[in-house]
This record gives sequence, C-alpha cells and structure tokens, in this order.
Amino acid sequence: MQRHIVLTGFMGSGKSTVGRLVAQKLGCRFVDIDDVIEKHAGMTIMEIFNKHGEIYFRDLESAAVRQVLDSSPSVIATGGGTLMRNSNLTELKKRGVLFYLSAQPSVLHERVGLSNNRPLVKEHPGLDEFSELLASRVPFYRKSDHIIEVDHVSPIEVADCIIDMLE
Ligand code: S3P
Repeated sequence: MQRHIVLTGFMGSGKSTVGRLVAQKLGCRFVDIDDVIEKHAGMTIMEIFNKHGEIYFRDLESAAVRQVLDSSPSVIATGGGTLMRNSNLTELKKRGVLFYLSAQPSVLHERVGLSNNRPLVKEHPGLDEFSELLASRVPFYRKSDHIIEVDHVSPIEVADCIIDMLE
C-alpha cells in the first residue's frame, strides 16, 4: 500500500469503525485523527473546545493531519470537520485516496444520539440545525475521490466495498 486510505464524512458516518475494519483486512495501521489530537493535547476533544475554543482545536487537527501523513501509509479516519480547512484537503488529497462515507441527516442524527463527547452535537442538537451543518459541509466531503452511500449498509460491507475499489 503506497498511499494513505482516508475516510471522510460527517459525525456518525462510521469512519472509525469502518477504518478499523479496512486496516484489519489489509494488515496495516489504523489512525484516528481525533485520537492523535487527544493524545497530543492530553485532553479530550470536549475539554479542548471548552478550554481553548474551536480555532485552537482546528490548529491541533491540522498539525495531527500533517504528522499522520508523514508516517507510514495507514488507514486514516478524519474528524467530521477536518476537510473544512483547505490546506488539510489539499494535503490529504496529495497523499491519500479519499472515501466519503455519505449518509442521510436523519440516520446520522440518530447514530450520534445525545453524544456527550462531540461539542458540535451539543451546539446543534436538533435535527434541523444538525442537517444545516451537514449541508454546509457536503460540498467539501464531495471533493473526496470516491463516495459510498452508507445508509442501511453494515460497516463490514462498507469496508469490503472500499477494499474492492482499491483493487
Ligand atoms: C467534529 C467531528 C468530530 C471531532 C470534533 C469536531 C466536526 O469527529 O473531530 O468533535 O467538526 O464535525 P467525528 O466526525 O469523528 O465525530
């Protein structure tokens, strides 16, 4: 595997679950950008947002993206907002193949539920505002190389589909 395999999409689309499965099947490393940020900061994402605000979090996120891209080819789960920074999108596209896990707002909303570890779910709790945030991001996610509809599809099926598309 020469290039990184990068999973993009909104919160609740299954990037981490699917990413782990793809990495297992390919026998390579799985990295979750959110985990890299938390380890580096020594704080949870919620604590980073609460103490330092979103811009600080986005700076840590960009640094984590660069660090992961510089390591051996891996399966990378981005955060739901990672592609909103143009420099992240450019770097990820240069060094990886991007798969957008696309799902309907209602499905994503149900999956994240009352997630208490996602600051942006707390800020956009209702389906309407949650959907608006998703709609503002779809144009960025669609810049991925491949789009996979993941509504009503199991994570294993999505992982198999990604592997098929790589061959
Ligand atoms: C965010 C999504 C989260 C995490 C942070 C911000 C976003 O990642 O990076 O809470 O802006 O959509 P997941 O997509 O893995 O939940």
